[in-house]
Amino acid sequence: MMSQEKNDELSLVKASDPAGKLLRQYWMPAALSEELESDRPVVPVNLLGEELALFRNENNELVLMDRHCPHRGADMCFGRKEDGGIRCPFHGWKFDSSGQCLDQPAEPEGSKFHEKIRINTYPLHEVNGIIFAFMGSGEPPAFPDFDCFKAPDSHVFAFKGLWECNWLQALEVGIDPAHASFLHRFLLDEDPEDSYGKQFRDTAADTNIPMTQVLREFDRPDIIVKDTDYGLRIIALRDLQNGTSHVRLTNQVFPCAITIPMSNEMTITQWHVPIDDENCYWFSMFTSFGKPVDKATMRAQRLLEHTLPDYAPIRNKRNHYGYNREEQETLTWTGMGLDINVHDQWACESMGKIQDRTNEHLGTTDKAIIQHRRKLRKAIKIVSEGGDLSELPLQVNAAQARDIKGPVAIDAIAPTQDWETVWRTSDQQRRAACDWDAER
Ligand code: FES
Ligand SMILES: [Fe+2]
Repeated sequence: MMSQEKNDELSLVKASDPAGKLLRQYWMPAALSEELESDRPVVPVNLLGEELALFRNENNELVLMDRHCPHRGADMCFGRKEDGGIRCPFHGWKFDSSGQCLDQPAEPEGSKFHEKIRINTYPLHEVNGIIFAFMGSGEPPAFPDFDCFKAPDSHVFAFKGLWECNWLQALEVGIDPAHASFLHRFLLDEDPEDSYGKQFRDTAADTNIPMTQVLREFDRPDIIVKDTDYGLRIIALRDLQNGTSHVRLTNQVFPCAITIPMSNEMTITQWHVPIDDENCYWFSMFTSFGKPVDKATMRAQRLLEHTLPDYAPIRNKRNHYGYNREEQETLTWTGMGLDINVHDQWACESMGKIQDRTNEHLGTTDKAIIQHRRKLRKAIKIVSEGGDLSELPLQVNAAQARDIKGPVAIDAIAPTQDWETVWRTSDQQRRAACDWDAER
């Protein structure tokens, strides 16, 4: 259990809040690249409690600025794009892409007032379908050599979805290896041939055993958590009682992402990004070590479950997540359909907008959650006290960033005595056979 004060310290995201300050020192997914392909030239972005406006100027450069005009607050998302900048429709104040006000056409001729006016803008970095923003102070950290950033665009599919809850509880479901045996339990095994683009529907590596069967029949994993330069490596071992063990490697990528295996071919790197204190988006990069990603299929699968432009899930608390009693008795543990994302969404949202951690009771399986909170608290303290940011995970320069790779996310079956070597070999084989440079 934790005090209310400590819960607030870890979870709240405004610029004045301790966790808000920490999160701002990291690149955050702000939008999918595809969002700028809609009919709307300037799209609204809500990130870390701030209202922002995102567009590509005529030179195709990305610009992210505050949403409200510094004159009298009109909405820049309806601005007119002009000569690399944007003009507010209310009184025509014009801003360049650095945010400097260049023109105030109704002010007296010769007025220099505009020189004093700026709108906040933020650095951006676009990679493999996601536009990342940096809202902190000082130099942003460099992007590590993670697989999802290094893979070519053809091998990465990006998507996002809305969850109506605080970012931290959304992240914590992803670093909790025990829940997969319950929340995502399927009472029947689907044909793994039909598993493309879905999580937990492949066979366990190098076997004919469906992952669903492994998770269902072996529900008491041993969990090992290791500190790394990017966050945590989390290993879940399931002893299959026949001399072999199922090994599942997942990762916490500091401060708000995970990298996990999706199938034998693909991994998922997923950020849980605060919109504000009570809502968040998951942004995922699905990275293939095998064939190029079939983006049309993966997008169509996800559009069956989400509505645009908000990427809001069709199953949500207002329709009880599509709960079906008969399905719960015969097919799935939750009765909420086959998409495991919906199960996670229910688990996180059902805690309440911000989980009341003054009432929780963490068990042995919550090891990674405990360790991650410890790391967060330490990092929050460093940022709040104006300490040395280079002590934080992933606060690296370009040269250091090249040494941060992976992270390895894999499912493997190994002789129980040998599990430590087998996952490394499986990972190396997969990387060696990969079309792009996936060497670690
Ligand atoms: S409110 Fe934007 S120019 Fe007046
Ligand atoms: Fe889950």
